[in-house]
Amino acid sequence: MQKLIDELEKNKDLSDEGLLALIGMPLTDIPNIGAAFWPGSLRASDKPPHSDVDRHADADPDRYLAKRADTVRRAHYGTNVYVRGLIEFTNHCKNNCYYCGIRRGNGSLTRYRLTKEEILSCTAAGFKLGFRTFVLQGGEDPYFTDTYICDIVSSIKEQHPDCALTLSIGEKDRASYQAFFDAGADRYLLRHETADDTHYARLHPPEMSLKNRMRCLYDLKEIGYQVGSGIMVGSPGQTPETILSDLRFLQKLDPDMIGIGPYLTHNNTPFANEKNGSLALTLRLLSLLRLLFPHALLPATTALGTIHPLGREMGLKCGANVLMPNLSPVDVRRLYALYENKICTGDESAQCRDCLETRVSSAGYQIVTARGDVKRKI
Ligand code: SAM
Ligand code: FES
Repeated sequence: MQKLIDELEKNKDLSDEGLLALIGMPLTDIPNIGAAFWPGSLRASDKPPHSDVDRHADADPDRYLAKRADTVRRAHYGTNVYVRGLIEFTNHCKNNCYYCGIRRGNGSLTRYRLTKEEILSCTAAGFKLGFRTFVLQGGEDPYFTDTYICDIVSSIKEQHPDCALTLSIGEKDRASYQAFFDAGADRYLLRHETADDTHYARLHPPEMSLKNRMRCLYDLKEIGYQVGSGIMVGSPGQTPETILSDLRFLQKLDPDMIGIGPYLTHNNTPFANEKNGSLALTLRLLSLLRLLFPHALLPATTALGTIHPLGREMGLKCGANVLMPNLSPVDVRRLYALYENKICTGDESAQCRDCLETRVSSAGYQIVTARGDVKRKI
């Protein structure tokens, strides 16, 4: 395995067989990187020197993989961690994705929408806390017409011209994406979810298609957005082969940001009886992504922090370099319930920011006040 990992690092690519071998390695509940790389959990004298990690690479390939990914991340981004202030501005959605807790078919969810003024007070508070990127995320909610979104986007950019603005509001036609871009939106997040047609159909109702999802992503790129895509790890029906198609699709798309997190089950969805995704596989894939896309912005997601109390810190150790704390008003946070037991639903933004600062520095990195644009030319 060490040879494959070294080859992947050197060439930023690997054969299908090689990638499948790495994706499919046996999994443990909590991978060893947690102990080997975790500062607070071991006395300094207990920590193996790096040479040891190399010597035991084949006995513990995940640990070696994490180390190589961390080395590559440091070469490109040092110890910097970029933060994006996430504003979940509507939990209304016209879609019915089988995995998602805010799907239209969930009749037991209290629905909310933030007003433009509420959104602007979230960004103002975030700016004071040092955020220089804001992400407006929501279900696909027709109440927010293109004109209204453009108005919100241009108002945010007027108030914070030095900040980057990301939209994550689902599938739209090209003209809408162009209008949001012209109004000032810089980035767009739209996970492709899976690049395999059969798997896509297992996750979504028939009115949704992978073809349209991909059309959206290519439109966004052509318009000039910095684009983010990604998958849920362990979504029902996912296999090593579907993950391989995800990696190959991502290589074609060449996004600036790749968001992956474990799939987590929600009771009021058709997937209520499905298992959660795995922490270990999510961390492994983060490291593989870092080696395949050295420049990429890779978030350690809220879902990773939900599946394990130190999930986000482990994510940083495995190659991630972005965090997306919540800036939404506290009273609506628990209503943006994509999955159960979501973390950080009770804390004020300032508390979240302080908590993250501590977590990030205890893992050996530091949060920086910057837009955090992708660094492609290294
Ligand atoms: N409507 C926008 C869209 O479709 O991109 C943004 C909101 S959507 C809820 C954001 C992401 O949440 C999805 O792309 C999906 O990967 C993730 N998500 C939804 N349900 C999830 C679950 N049960 N577990 C983990 N992630 C989930
Ligand atoms: Fe629309 Fe999840 S089904 S955001």
